[in-house]
Amino acid sequence: NWSMETFIEDTIRDIRETVGDKKVLCALSGGVDSSVVAALIHRAIGDQLTCMFVDHGLLRKGEAEGVMQTFGKEFRMNLVKVDARERFLSKLKGVTDPEEKRKIIGNEFIRVFEEESVKIGLHEFLGQGTLYTDIVESGTDTAHTIKSHHNVGGLPEDMTMQLIEPLNTLFKDEVRKVGEELGLSAAIVWRQPFPGPGLGIRVIGEVSEDKLEIVRESDEILRNEIAKAGLDREIWQYFTALPDFRSVGVMGDVRTYAYTVGIRAVTSIDGMTADWARIPYDVLEKISTRIVNEVDGVNRVVYDITSKPPSTIEWE
Ligand code: XMP
Repeated sequence: NWSMETFIEDTIRDIRETVGDKKVLCALSGGVDSSVVAALIHRAIGDQLTCMFVDHGLLRKGEAEGVMQTFGKEFRMNLVKVDARERFLSKLKGVTDPEEKRKIIGNEFIRVFEEESVKIGLHEFLGQGTLYTDIVESGTDTAHTIKSHHNVGGLPEDMTMQLIEPLNTLFKDEVRKVGEELGLSAAIVWRQPFPGPGLGIRVIGEVSEDKLEIVRESDEILRNEIAKAGLDREIWQYFTALPDFRSVGVMGDVRTYAYTVGIRAVTSIDGMTADWARIPYDVLEKISTRIVNEVDGVNRVVYDITSKPPSTIEWE
């Protein structure tokens, strides 16, 4: 019979015993698991923990600032922010294949993390937000190899740090409870799933800063309107994607030739299967009008009405 208070107390004691006076490094992505593991380890050992946040430029609007605010300012953690935006963009230049993009983003993440961890000096331990389900899904003896599909924070195999994975007996809902108890905001604890490669796979085809901007801005409008309509808990995941084509429109008296934004919103239990969300027409209308009016370079909005299968949730 799982009790959260006992879990937190016991885990803090274990972490202190294991770590002693040594140091722990965590890669913080802003996702639920890495946020909770950072908050938990921080509660246990305070300044012996350093968190590294790699800004790859593929996050949603306001996310990088949110991570710095929560963990740097409010929790006062040792937090190193690495601005790797240029680096990721240049690696992605000319690349159009989705799997290729995933591979590049994942590898680059590891490279940046390695380089930066050398710079900040010796940390004997590496804290990771591995959950019980991650271990089960990746099979028995490869418990620590994280599915390539699922974690851009899959870290170097040859790193000599010892792993601590205090969440590895928990399910997602338990992790959320621990996060709430540790004082993390609802926005973090109830954050919708977000792919490791981020907006890099929501810009279809070649990624550019201009296109990322369109996705960021349209996604922000979508999130905002979904929240206003009170649908943010019942829709499992919702986002915009930018297909790689333009079409004709008219604005005022002027013909436009601009991009189409796709809205994707699904209900699901675990992401394995999904149904397209029946968002009310008037909410969709509001979203569409705002996107076309407020996001430069867009003159058309479409709503994805396919389920998974045969589609996937993401467009790449
Ligand atoms: P699909 O598109 O396969 O997505 O139906 C199922 C769930 O997984 C997420 N997803 C990813 N997560 N790295 C991740 O960490 C990825 O490369 C990746 N691709 C898809 C997706 O957002 C959805 O929640």
